[in-house]
Amino acid sequence: MTDTANISAADLMPILIAPHPVLKAKARPVITSDNELVRSLIPRMFATMYKAPGIGLAAPQIGLSLRVAVVDVSEAEKPLAPLVMVNPEVVAASSELRVHEEGCLSLPNQFADVTRPSIIKVRFEDASGMKCEIEADGLLATCIQHEIDHLNGVLFVDHISALKRNIIMRKLAKEQRTKAEARS
Ligand code: NI
Repeated sequence: MTDTANISAADLMPILIAPHPVLKAKARPVITSDNELVRSLIPRMFATMYKAPGIGLAAPQIGLSLRVAVVDVSEAEKPLAPLVMVNPEVVAASSELRVHEEGCLSLPNQFADVTRPSIIKVRFEDASGMKCEIEADGLLATCIQHEIDHLNGVLFVDHISALKRNIIMRKLAKEQRTKAEARS
């Protein structure tokens, strides 16, 4: 289990905002020689995700094009349920679909309904390299698919119409400009 209690502000990593080329790239698989990097990365990813706050974060969002994602869909009042996924892969998906209004730390303040399989089976390695397979439904299934998308250079807005996507991307760009102006 990842210890997220002893994380300092120095561990927080800046989150890339769309559009950014790293967010559009297919991330490379984690190999054995990455183990040390991944081990140091995971607590920082959790810290960054919890601070944001968010329920999932993929390595490309912090500028690392590696197939690593962290997820925690537990509610604030419930115990933390951190999930580390290295080289995750959806191996089965239900034909039954689920619609969820998704957001993303790389598209702050932007939301859209996205339709995805409601139940999935996902294979991955945990932080210690152990092979795992879980079945997920509900919010967890949605979140895992959203994070795996990030590893393939896909954002939630790529699942909606071009018209809606353009509206969101323009709104995001405008908000980011306003934010930058307020800082300068
Ligand atoms: Ni996201």
